[in-house]
Amino acid sequence: MGKKSFQKIASTIRSHKKIFLAILIVFIITGSLISFLLINRYVVPADYDVSLSEPIYTSSNIPIGVAVEPYKLKSSENYKTLATTHFNSFTPENVMKMGPIHPQEGEYNWEDADFLVEYAENNSMQIHGHCLVWHEQLPDWMENYDGTSQDWKNMLKLHIQTVVNRYKDNITSWDVVNEAFLSHDYRDTIWYEHIGADYIKYAFQWAHEADPDASLYYNDFSLCTNIPKLDFTVEKLGELIGEGVPIHGLGFQAHLTSQSFKYDIIVDAINKVNQLGIDIRVSELDISMNLLGCYQKYTDYICKKQQEFYSDVVRAFSKADSLTGITLWGIHDAGSWIRYFRGLDWPLLFDEEFNPKPCALSFQEALIQYT
Ligand code: XIL
Repeated sequence: MGKKSFQKIASTIRSHKKIFLAILIVFIITGSLISFLLINRYVVPADYDVSLSEPIYTSSNIPIGVAVEPYKLKSSENYKTLATTHFNSFTPENVMKMGPIHPQEGEYNWEDADFLVEYAENNSMQIHGHCLVWHEQLPDWMENYDGTSQDWKNMLKLHIQTVVNRYKDNITSWDVVNEAFLSHDYRDTIWYEHIGADYIKYAFQWAHEADPDASLYYNDFSLCTNIPKLDFTVEKLGELIGEGVPIHGLGFQAHLTSQSFKYDIIVDAINKVNQLGIDIRVSELDISMNLLGCYQKYTDYICKKQQEFYSDVVRAFSKADSLTGITLWGIHDAGSWIRYFRGLDWPLLFDEEFNPKPCALSFQEALIQYT
């Protein structure tokens, strides 16, 4: 910049002193405000010292559960203590899925599932079975199964009835079909492809035949956020229930995120399912706070937001005409499936060191108030 233009700018500033001063002050104030907000949101770490005076489940009249892995119960004292102290229902996180429990045709691996059932019984807990039919975690032999549609039906029926039958005296509720619907259609899975949409109906009928006393659930994700998917699910379940298919409940997986959490949308969804006259479970609750990966640490800001969400989710689901349980999808942040699938996050009630987070307290307080 030449000397002349510099002098020109200086003289303009001098002659409009007040305006420039005002602009400067506005800049300083907004700048400080923005930095304060950013520092507060991204830098100040959460500092808490929470203790739960009572086990979480004792604060509710409905079962409060957790997804568990037998190998973690066996290998970590902290994990075992929290799972056994704070929850009165277990969902097997993986060991009853088709692949783990039925690795070869006609060959079942009962070891881990039996361990869990026995462990739960010895500790006066119930087990919610998960899951009889899914398109994920399949054994290779099922994926490559070669047969007519009738062969596929026989194969699926045998699987469902063998598993349900084994745990008839121990397991009183099951996720029968998991994740069969998309927003406006059936999900294209091996079951849909080889048996047709009726595989859903058959699965419930076969499970019911094996254990007429068990409560049978359809289970799916995004039902709290994706309105078309919820509507399609309600429509299809309504049709099946109308035909007399034994579907007793709907499991909302509730893998929620801070990005999409909307109390009113959850309540609307619950009201629609209430119209079906079936039970509702929160089957896989966790609340992701770092979907976009912007945070490097659990800050005071996200800690407070998570407290609100955990309270609001209980408040929302208390609007269910028949709420039959709330199950967390894991115990502590470091063991959450979200860390493996997406990266750093803090979705659960206990932290890396197995200490209760403030959201554990707000969750428990909400259970007292609303359930
Ligand atoms: C997840 C488990 O938590 C993981 O350990 C596993 O690797 C993949 O499956 N919906 C479901 C659950 O119904 O079974 C899934 O569990 C999470 C999404």
